[in-house]
Amino acid sequence: GADLGPSPAGTDFVAVAPNTDDTITVPEGYDQEVVIRWGDKIFPDAPEFDIDNQTAAAQERQFGFNNDFAGLLPVDGVPNTYLLVISHEYTTEPFMFAGYDEENPTEEQVRIGWASHGLSVVQVKGEPGTGRLTPEFGQYNRRITATTEFLVTGPAAGSSLLRTTADPTGTKVAGTLNNCAGGVTPWGTVLSGEENFDQYFANADRVTEPVAAERLARYGIEGEASDRKWERFDSRFDIAAEPNEVNRFGWIVEIDPWDASSTPVKHTALGRFKHEAATIHVADDGTVVSYSGDDERFDYMYKFISSRRMQDGTSRAAVRHNMTLLDAGTLYVAKLSGDHAGEIDGSGTLPEGGQFTGKGEWIPVLRTHEDGRSESLVDGMSAEEVAVFTRLAGDKVGATKMDRPEDFEANPVTGKVYVALTNNSKRGVDGAAAADEANPRVGNKNGQVLEIDDDHAGTSFTWNLLLVCGDPNEADTYFGGFDKAQVSPISCPDNLAFDPHGNLWISTDGNALGSNDGLFAVVLDGPRRGETKQFLTVPVGAETCGPIVGDNRVVVAVQHPGETDDASWDSPGSHWPDGGQAQPRPSVVAAWKSGDGRIGV
Ligand code: FEO
Ligand code: CA
Ligand code: CA
Ligand code: CA
Repeated sequence: GADLGPSPAGTDFVAVAPNTDDTITVPEGYDQEVVIRWGDKIFPDAPEFDIDNQTAAAQERQFGFNNDFAGLLPVDGVPNTYLLVISHEYTTEPFMFAGYDEENPTEEQVRIGWASHGLSVVQVKGEPGTGRLTPEFGQYNRRITATTEFLVTGPAAGSSLLRTTADPTGTKVAGTLNNCAGGVTPWGTVLSGEENFDQYFANADRVTEPVAAERLARYGIEGEASDRKWERFDSRFDIAAEPNEVNRFGWIVEIDPWDASSTPVKHTALGRFKHEAATIHVADDGTVVSYSGDDERFDYMYKFISSRRMQDGTSRAAVRHNMTLLDAGTLYVAKLSGDHAGEIDGSGTLPEGGQFTGKGEWIPVLRTHEDGRSESLVDGMSAEEVAVFTRLAGDKVGATKMDRPEDFEANPVTGKVYVALTNNSKRGVDGAAAADEANPRVGNKNGQVLEIDDDHAGTSFTWNLLLVCGDPNEADTYFGGFDKAQVSPISCPDNLAFDPHGNLWISTDGNALGSNDGLFAVVLDGPRRGETKQFLTVPVGAETCGPIVGDNRVVVAVQHPGETDDASWDSPGSHWPDGGQAQPRPSVVAAWKSGDGRIGV
C-alpha cells in the first residue's frame, strides 16, 4: 500500500492489544499510577478509609464512589498544581458494604450512599518529569453530595412543577444525582449532567392521572420501591408523597470550583432529560453553544445557544457574568436526514459513495430571554413544560431518534463536533424505530461516532459517521476509510476528549467484543483519518470514563471495577487497585510516557 508516513503527533504509540487482565495496561514505554480512590480522604480531618467501618460523616470528607467525569484546572500562579474535579455517578451498595441486605438497607448505609454521590474537587500536585498527580488538602477541596444545596435558575425556577413541601419556592434543591460526564467551561467552571435520575424515585406506579403518568413514563420512571430504598428514609424520594421532587433532577448543573462555599446551580434553560454531559464551544460572535446528548435508546441530541456573550478572563466578575450564559438563549433539538436514505437496509453496509453522510437542522423548542421571561416554541406546551418535559417537546417536533447519545463535544482545534452513540440493542427490533443513515444497524451492539460540521451559532449542519464500531474483521464496521486490518477493535464509545494536536480520544463502556474497556486515539485528518489505536485498557468489569489527554499526561476515571454479572462481595470480579484479596475500588488513574516524553509523540 501507499506509504502513509508515521502516525501523527499524539497517536504515535504501539497500540495495546485487547485483553481481559485485571489491571491497567498502557503502551510499552508508558507508566501509570492511581491518583485517588473511593474513600481516600480529601480533608485533613477525615478518617482513613475503612471499608468495614464506614460512616456517612466520614464519606462526606472522602472521595466519592464511581468516578466518571474528570476535569483538570490549572491553579493560577501555582506551578504544576491543579484542581481535579470528578463526578460520582452512582452507588452500587452490594459492592460497597459487606453483608448488604438489598431488601433492608440500614439508614447509615443509605446516608453513606447520599454522601458517595455528587462531585469532588481535589487539589492535585504534578511532579516534574512524570505525569504523576498527588492529592493535596487544598483550600478549594470540596465534596458536593446528594444533600448539598443547589439553586435553580432559568425558566423552570419557581415553577409549580418544581415546588415541594420542603421547598415551596421551587428554587432550592437538595443535591445532585447520577452525575455522569461533563465539561470544563472556558470560564473555569464545571458542567455536569444529571443522567439516570429515574432510578432513585419510588412509587411512580401509584400515579394514575394520565398526564402525570405519561410524563413519568416518558422518563422511564416506573415501578414500586426503588432499588436503594431511599424513600424509606426521606419521603422526597417517594413520588406518591412528593410528586415534584423528581422534576428537580435531570438538569445540567454548574459548579464553581474556585469558591468552595459557592452554591452550585441547576440551569433549566438547557432542558431536562438524561443529560450525559454538556460541553461548551464559543461561537465566533462570542455567544456560547452548549452541546448535550440524552443517553437513552431512541432519544435526542440538543444544543443551546446563549444570547449573552462570554466575558474573557477568569476574574470573579467574569465568572459571575459567565455563569449566567446558560440562563438566556435558545434550546434546539436535532433532526437529521441521510443522503442515501433508500440504500440503508439495517446491515451497516456502506452506501454508494462509501460513507454514511447527511444533513441536519436544529429545531428550536424553548427561548429564554435575558429578563427571565421564557417562551415555548412547541405547540400545546408551555415554556415551563418544555423545560421540564423536554423529551415530550422533542417528540412533538419530530426530532431524530438516536442510538443513545453520550458525549457530544466540539474539537477545539478544528471546531468539528463529535457525538458518541454508544449502542442500541433495540434499533429496528420488535417494531422500534428502523435503522437510518445515522443509526445504520439493526440491534446495534457496538455503537458509532458521528462527526458534525455545525454552523455553531446557526441552525443547519452536515454530518458523517466517522466510525461504525465493532470488530474490524466484520463487514458492518467502518473506520473513517482507513485500512481495517490496521486498527484496534473498539466497541461502545462513551466519553470523548481531544488531545492538544486535535486527535479524538474515545473511552468505552460495555465492550461487546468480550475484552475489557479502554481508551482509544483516533486520527481525524490526513491520509491516516480513521486510524484507531488502543492506548489503555482498564481492569475487569470496569468502564473507562473521564478521559483527559494533555501534552504529557492522560487521566482516566475507572468506574465500577469488578462489577461483572457473576461477581458478588464474596467473589469480587476484580481486586484492583489494592490487589491481594481486597474489594475493588473505583479510582482515577494518570498515565504518562516514561522520561517526560510527550503523549503519542
Ligand atoms: Fe452514565 Fe451515559 O453514561
Ligand atoms: Ca457509567
Ligand atoms: Ca457515560
Ligand atoms: Ca455509558
